[in-house]
Amino acid sequence: MVKIAPSILSADFARLGCDVKALDSAGADWIHIDVMDGHFVPNLTFGPVIVESIRSYTQKTFDVHLMMTNPENFITSFAKAGADYITVHLEAQSNIEYLISLIKKEGKKVGLSICPSTPVAKLEPFIPLIDLVLIMSVEPGFGGQTFQEKALEKIVSVKELIGKKHVLVSVDGGINQITAPACKLAGADILVAGSYIFKKKPYAIQIQQLKEG
Ligand code: DX5
Ligand code: ZN
Repeated sequence: MVKIAPSILSADFARLGCDVKALDSAGADWIHIDVMDGHFVPNLTFGPVIVESIRSYTQKTFDVHLMMTNPENFITSFAKAGADYITVHLEAQSNIEYLISLIKKEGKKVGLSICPSTPVAKLEPFIPLIDLVLIMSVEPGFGGQTFQEKALEKIVSVKELIGKKHVLVSVDGGINQITAPACKLAGADILVAGSYIFKKKPYAIQIQQLKEG
């Protein structure tokens, strides 16, 4: 069964703890936390202190997505704030092996994300070192964008690259009742969704729809 990871980028930031609690009760498997530095992407969201402040509202996995140019400066603080998976971008300006070692040193799971324009082949050297691949099906930076169909063939290619290794495939951006089944068919293990889940209450209906659709 595919796991659903609601992105709190679309949550009500004035009531973030309540929304996280609501996602938990609505059947979210993971909580996807979009960290943006205003440099890697033209948007700025939040830092470790916000992750720390919502940690006690749920026991669910915190799937922290670092859209940062130099994430090495914040890996320890996000780990200490309660992240379970820490995902960095292959397009970051840091040494990827170094980033992976930092995340592992904190005892966290390692995710590696690629933007829509980055070929899957660039992931190859890192597959033996990571726990999750995050395929961006939109340009990172904002919620509410349209799903880019080419992500479907990327899912298939990443699954081929992974083979029998234990690496999860997550898809992020434009996930809704139409694109979710296509991603599942292509082999996705986790679906990240923001605007589709938060568009109306109760969140459980949309989460169920993505899970079973
Ligand atoms: C975009 C983020 C995504 C985004 C998903 O940079 O990484 O997680 O919040 O939002 P929707 O589901 O609205 O495309
Ligand atoms: Zn994300």
